Order: sequence, then C-alpha cells, then structure tokens
Amino acid sequence: MCGIVAYVGEQEAYPILIKGLQRLAYRGYDSSGVAICNGKMTVYKKKGKLRALVDYAKDQDTKGKIGIGHTRWATHGEPNDVNAHPHNSQNGKLSLVHNGIIENYAPLKEMLIKKGHRFVSDTDTEVLIHLIEEVQRVEKVNLEEAVRLSLHSVVGAYAIVVISEDEPDKIVAARKSSPLVIGLGEKEFFVASDATPIVEHTKNVIYLNDGEIAVVDLENGLRIKNMENDSVTPYIQELEIKLEKLEKEGFDHFMLKEIYQQDNSIRDCLRGRLNSKTDLLHLRGMKDLEDQFAAAKRLIIVACGTSWHAGLVGEYLIEDLARIPVEVEYASEFRYRKPIIYEDDVVIALSQSGETADTLAAIRMAKEQGATIFGICNVVGSSIARESHAGSYTHAGPEIGVASTKAFTTQLTVLTLMGLILGKKRGTIPEEIYKEIVEGLESIPNLIKQVMETEEQIKYIAEEFKDVSNFLYLGRGYNFPIALEGALKLKEISYIHAEGYPAAEMKHGPIALIDDSMPVVVVATNESAYEKIISNIQEVKARKGRIIAITTLKDKIIEELADYVIQIPNVPEPLAPLLATIPLQLLSYHIAVLRNCDVDQPRNLAKSVTVE
Ligand code: G6P
Repeated sequence: MCGIVAYVGEQEAYPILIKGLQRLAYRGYDSSGVAICNGKMTVYKKKGKLRALVDYAKDQDTKGKIGIGHTRWATHGEPNDVNAHPHNSQNGKLSLVHNGIIENYAPLKEMLIKKGHRFVSDTDTEVLIHLIEEVQRVEKVNLEEAVRLSLHSVVGAYAIVVISEDEPDKIVAARKSSPLVIGLGEKEFFVASDATPIVEHTKNVIYLNDGEIAVVDLENGLRIKNMENDSVTPYIQELEIKLEKLEKEGFDHFMLKEIYQQDNSIRDCLRGRLNSKTDLLHLRGMKDLEDQFAAAKRLIIVACGTSWHAGLVGEYLIEDLARIPVEVEYASEFRYRKPIIYEDDVVIALSQSGETADTLAAIRMAKEQGATIFGICNVVGSSIARESHAGSYTHAGPEIGVASTKAFTTQLTVLTLMGLILGKKRGTIPEEIYKEIVEGLESIPNLIKQVMETEEQIKYIAEEFKDVSNFLYLGRGYNFPIALEGALKLKEISYIHAEGYPAAEMKHGPIALIDDSMPVVVVATNESAYEKIISNIQEVKARKGRIIAITTLKDKIIEELADYVIQIPNVPEPLAPLLATIPLQLLSYHIAVLRNCDVDQPRNLAKSVTVE
C-alpha cells in the first residue's frame, strides 16, 4: 500500500518518477507527489489521481537528476495536498517518502514538538523526517547515519526513501515489513516498491531485506548495511518481467485484459507441472515437503480478500481429493486470536502480491511456533515467497487491475494441483476420477476461451441490472466460495452492495431481502446436491426474485426456471470454480463500466495492502 519510487543518475528524474508512479498506482491513488533536488529541494504534491499532480506540475520547474516520488493510500490523515508525500524536514533540506505505519508516532511527535519542531500534516510520516533531522542536528552525522539511528527509535512498518540537499547525489532507503527493490543501471540507480517502475531501465535488481538500509550515491555506487551498521553483501537478481505485460495492449482496462488472459495464465501455471500423456504431475516447490504434507494432520490456509476465497475453494479441493482436514483463516483474525499451531501443521499462505501485511505477519507467527510454511504467490521475489520454507508461484504474470481476476484462477489451479498430488500420494482418489480431473484441468485454458464467448450476453444482463442497489449471490459446495467472490468483485468495482451466501443458508436470513427488484445470481453448475439447488432457485422464484443462473451447457431444468442463464462447459465438479468465476468477473466489469466507475482503480481500495 502506497507506492514509492526514487531515482538518481544522469537523466532527468521527474519523467522517470512520474512513469514509475503510474506503474505503482495500483498500490494507492488518493494523492501523489514528488520531491526533486536541483541545488534546492522542491516538492510538488496533489490530492487525487496522478493526473492531478501532472497537471499541477506541468508549468513548473521540475529539472533535477535526483528525486523521490509517492502515490498514497491514506492511513493517518485524510487524502489532501498537505498529507500527500513527500514530507520535508523543518529546515526544508530533507525529503522523505514512506510506505507503512509508524505506530509510535504520537510519543515521537510530542518529544519533537518539545524540541521546537512544528508539524504541518496529520501524518505519521512527517514525524519520521523531523526525527531524522533532529538526530542529524544533535549527533552531527551524515544522512545515512541519521536514518539508521532514527530507525532505532521507530516502532512500526516502513519502506522509506530519503534525500538531502546537503548530499545531493545520495539516496538512503530502508525497509521493515514493506517491500523495496533497488535497480542498478549504468551510472544510475532506482528504488521502488516493486520492480515494475525499474524494468524498463534495468534488469538488475536487489530486493532489500527487512532491517536493511541501502545507500546509493553516484560516486561510490550501492552499499547495504544492517541496523547495527554491519555491511551486507547484496544479492543481485535478474528481472524476468516483460514490459508489454505492464501495458493495456489495446484493452480498455487492465481488468478486462486480465480476464481475457486467463486461458494463457492458467496454461503458464500448468506448464511443466501437468501432462496427462507423460503422466507428469508435479509442483517443484512441494517436492521436499511432500511427506510433511501427506503426514500433516491438518493444513491451515491463511489469506485475505480474493485470495481467501481461493483458500476456501482449496479447502473443498484438498479435503475432497486428499482427505486432509483444511482450515481456512483470514490472516488478520488468525494472527490475533492466539491460534493453536502444532509443529506438524503445514500453513499455506495464499497471496497474489506476496506482500499483504496480515498474511505476512500470520506466517511469521506460525513459523515461530514451528509450523512449516508453504507460500503460493504471484509476485516473484515477494516477501511471503521469500519467507516461506517452500512454495509455488502461480505464474499469472503482473496483475495490475486492483480487482483480482487471473491471480485468483491461477491460485485455484495451483490448489487443484496440490489436491491431485496429495490425493495420489495418499491413495484417496479413485483412478478414473483422477484421470478425469487431470484431463479436465488440461482442457481448462481452451474451455475458458469458450466461456469468454458469453461476454455479449453478459453485457446485456449488465445493462438490465446496472441501476440496482443490491445483489445476492448464491452457491453450494465448490460454488459457494465462487458466490462470495462474485459478490466481492461487484462491490469492489461497481459500488453496488452485494452479498455471497451458501444457497441453503439463504432461508436463515437473506431470503427476507428478496422481492421483485432483487437480482439473485445462482452459481449452479453442481452435479452433487443439484436438486437442492433447484429447490433454492424455486424459493427465490416464489418471492419474485430475478434469477441469473450460471449453469452447464447440458442443463435444461434451470434454463426453464431462471430469468437469465449463462451456460458454461461441463467439467468435473472440482474444476467448476475455474470456469464459473469468469462470467461473474465479466458481469461486475460490465456493470462497473456502465456505471462509469474507475474499474482499475476503485475508490478507497489498493491492490497491495501492506498495512495491517
Ligand atoms: C487487496 C486487493 C485484493 C486482494 C487482497 C489480498 O484487498 O484489493 O484484490 O485479494 O488485497 O491480496 P494478496 O496480494 O495477498 O492476494
């Protein structure tokens, strides 16, 4: 949450910072700002999307070869020009951008006020730059030492970048629990919250670890040290991201592009892992832990948001195919409710970004208590991926739309592979069912293409329902988490209130909401409990609810009952979520577009939630 970018080198910093902030906008977009040092420190910052900053700065002098930039998702202090980053020291010579939360900002602020500091914003961040200024004044040290000493007094999470008028070609960056990547170019350096602002300039990067401070200056290059001032040898990695993957490539929105990419992203996710002809089924990351997995008395999946919904599908999959008990936990609840963790537990962290603060904290806690951690992440090199004992990447490629789509379906793909691997090892899947699922999974990319053909029909349904205020989503079994996910997608991007419910639970409450204005999306591709789903549909119909059903191509009964039917190919039940979720993504997308909502950057949200 919040995006940071910094540059020092021989080029003009401003355009590099703005382009970088564009790439990082998924991390927050309620205000943005840059500080450029060209002899003097100048800061431009503006409330609103990046466009507002660009318009504001367009006739100003933005020249300079060193600078820092920030795109904000407000935590302390409302989104306005003053609270936007960068924040300066009292003497105006130091400037800082920050991602995270300084938890002890109040006592620090009080102490600094007593020493004569005056604050202009409501942010925790401003306290940090005044603290660095104060330490520098008292200790008479250079910028890097002032940053290091100051951070000893800070409680909380941070990724920070600081520059100073007095050391005009030096950048100091530090991280604790929020990501930072350093790009090494030819006589130039980049620092950013992720690699996307860096990839078009250099492929050589270093992922900073927690508790490390990086100092780059044009004369001495890069140095990394820890909080005790010991040097750390940097580990340089080569980026694999392709630049075109960060562009919309002709689509109106990243979200639509990412919905359309799902056939390929699942193909990429399966590559080298599954092949029915050669009997290949394997997840390299699981190899060393297979015995541990198979012997575990239970698995615990921790995740947030859409990833939590994938985790719920994972519970159905692994319990069904491998007969291992699975618990699925919201990471934020898990970590604070003193959970009972056994040493033979395997904790699976599901996270697109690999940076979600609650999920990261949950695995750290479970690790401390002896559990084995398996990370399923999309972003390569992310914190969760690095802090897990083992893991598997989803290989969905960069997901930029804030509402998660292809990351979700590739998470389901990895979980299906896990279910199959464990089921095979434990002998819990009958041979013919195993074969059916393996072949079905291989055919999913082609079937997704077929599902995309329902888009015109979905646009028509979106037109019909774009002005309603409420939606209900129902599903049973494997489709229950899909109902939850469908409702979440709609809320996130169209701001229509939507609830997902297990279909049978409807009669315990939500049924009271049903009248002739209530659209009810029923995800009804199930073979098991099919009659029960029909009964649930009848219950809605009897109260004049308007039914939009997702069914399989062969279903004629629901076709008769529902007001609108979207048909998808028939696949073995454990694979149905992979297809059934796609019409729901498209429905929320088209409703949001018709309501003129900012699909890729919905209000109040951010893609990577690095605060708790
Ligand atoms: C945010 C995003 C969601 C995402 C959730 C968990 O809320 O907007 O799309 O599902 O974080 O993120 P993660 O990166 O851990 O999957």
